[in-house]
Amino acid sequence: TVRKSTNIVWHKSSVEKFDRQELLQQKGCVIWITGLSGSGKSTLACALSQGLHLRGKLTYILDGDNVRHGLNSDLSFKVEDRAENIRRIGEVAKLFADAGIICIASLISPYRKDRDACRALLPEGDFIEVFLDVPLQVCEARDPKGLYKLARCGKIKGFTGIDDPYEPPLNCEIVLQQKGGDLVSPSNMAETVISYLEEKGYLQ
Ligand code: PPS
Repeated sequence: TVRKSTNIVWHKSSVEKFDRQELLQQKGCVIWITGLSGSGKSTLACALSQGLHLRGKLTYILDGDNVRHGLNSDLSFKVEDRAENIRRIGEVAKLFADAGIICIASLISPYRKDRDACRALLPEGDFIEVFLDVPLQVCEARDPKGLYKLARCGKIKGFTGIDDPYEPPLNCEIVLQQKGGDLVSPSNMAETVISYLEEKGYLQ
């Protein structure tokens, strides 16, 4: 994006990220859940938030669908609007992480370069990309909102996976697979992510 804000000076606060983290006994970070529509991103985000909350950890979910009701209600699903949706959520997630909160962003975020740009906003290690790897056929069979059906008959144009691309991560931190037969429960998936956070020292 072109920077239009000029003559601006950063103002430092006397209470810093370190102090907030001490207070909360956790490290602020961003857990970025990416995957197709219907892959279970929001369900995983909720399970993760619940699991961490039970451990006394402060989380906040930024869900694509929800943020599009407010902050991003001016954005469509064309390439440049999706990029702006992801950029804004990335910037907001960065603020949450700076607040010391474990921010869970769950949005399709179909383009690699947009996700990588969000990663670049955060200190090394603090952007944890989780790929919810569920095949299109499984998502389409679930079709919880009936959107795949509408996309297949041309009533929605540019639907991810149908007539708009999804670029899977090439080397993300966590891949959670959901391949038909042996379904893994959302709370099991959440535990995998929580173990990762524990191992990396985010839960202190
Ligand atoms: S993106 O691509 O990251 O900007 O998308 P996101 O903000 O996560 O919003 C995805 C939800 O919007 C609904 N929806 C669509 N998805 C994909 N493509 C098109 N064209 C589209 N139109 C509406 C859909 O309900 C998505 O919800 P999820 O939770 O992903 O199923």
